[in-house]
Amino acid sequence: MAQVKIGLVGAGNIGQRHIMAIDQLEAAELIAFADPSEAAQAKAASRAIPCYGDAAEMLEACTPDAVIIATPTERHHRDAITCIEGGCKNLLVEKPIAASDKEAEEIVRAGEKAGCNVMVAHQRRYYPCAAKAKELIDSGAIGTLIGVTGQWSLRKDEAYYAPQWRRKTKAGPILTNLIHELDLLRFICGEIEAVSAYISHIDQHFEKEDAVAISLQFKNQAVGSFFLSDRTPSPWGWEFALGENLALPKTGQNAIRFMGSKGALEFPNLVLWQHDSPDGHWQQPISGQPIETDFIDAYIAQAAHLCAVVQKKAEPFIAAQDASLSLKATLAVTQAANTGRKITL
Ligand SMILES: NC(=O)c1ccc[n+]([C@@H]2O[C@H](COP(=O)([O-])OP(=O)(O)OC[C@H]3O[C@@H](n4cnc5c(N)ncnc54)[C@H](O)[C@@H]3O)[C@@H](O)[C@H]2O)c1
Repeated sequence: MAQVKIGLVGAGNIGQRHIMAIDQLEAAELIAFADPSEAAQAKAASRAIPCYGDAAEMLEACTPDAVIIATPTERHHRDAITCIEGGCKNLLVEKPIAASDKEAEEIVRAGEKAGCNVMVAHQRRYYPCAAKAKELIDSGAIGTLIGVTGQWSLRKDEAYYAPQWRRKTKAGPILTNLIHELDLLRFICGEIEAVSAYISHIDQHFEKEDAVAISLQFKNQAVGSFFLSDRTPSPWGWEFALGENLALPKTGQNAIRFMGSKGALEFPNLVLWQHDSPDGHWQQPISGQPIETDFIDAYIAQAAHLCAVVQKKAEPFIAAQDASLSLKATLAVTQAANTGRKITL
């Protein structure tokens, strides 16, 4: 079977991660970049592939089977619409799908109208531990899901905030990082019904928030809470737990706990906690059973899935409509904090 030809729009930080993944796949070939930066031009030259100024230029010059969009978030809408209207039939957009609900809806509608598979790079869902957690909860391993509590707390380095745009709300930890957590919670627990939230600016005094604490209500009546901050050093966060990001230390410490009527589940290094007897209660011994899952490179799995969709061997896993609900929940957190009101989705 012919290789799937992929074009990359935005060959920066995360673009590089997509390139590394594509390079691992026999089924895929990176045929062009679209990126105006000198760094991208040099990267393309070293691979002997063309580098166009933007997505429109790239699609005028060549016809990739799939395009990956990894430009800054505020460009996702424009670049996605350009690709869809330019005839692209398979599109993988970095998260968040767009910067607003309206933009996300427009991408969903444009994709449907043009028959373009629009997928979003919420890569955490590709880890086997995420699928296993969902399977355990759906199968009643902890009884009825009653609650979830989670944390993502670390301190980013000062150089990270040197560019002014990283100090703005749109680049803050809610839209950049909390969206990953809410996407996973939606995937594992089900749809979110309502959120309320408090935001803190105690440390940096930038426009962007330093921390957020949220309360969640799910449609299935489970409730949840989450604390997230980019100013608080701790061993508790997804990347630390799994060692997903090679630039960050691995602690192996779990960051999320699901609680049900018959037990609890630690995540992402799965440990299933149950009392020793089936009608277990607080006076009985309780023990934790580790559940091993494979640790994979989610970016390779994601690129392989994109190829499978192009080859009509798979349906889109995280389609634009699905990802737009993760964006909606994330934007609702800021709205809830700013208004002091519970926001129903
Ligand atoms: N999935 C994840 O875990 C993850 C992690 C990091 C970033 N992201 C997302 O990826 C996106 C990019 O983030 P980044 O950290 O790679 O940013 P970056 O600034 O490192 O890279 C963006 C690239 O886009 C290029 N660009 C700018 N304007 C362009 C245009 N008009 N046409 C084509 N290219 C253009 C820039 O030159 C740069 O190379 C953001 O939306 C971010 O939320 C996702």
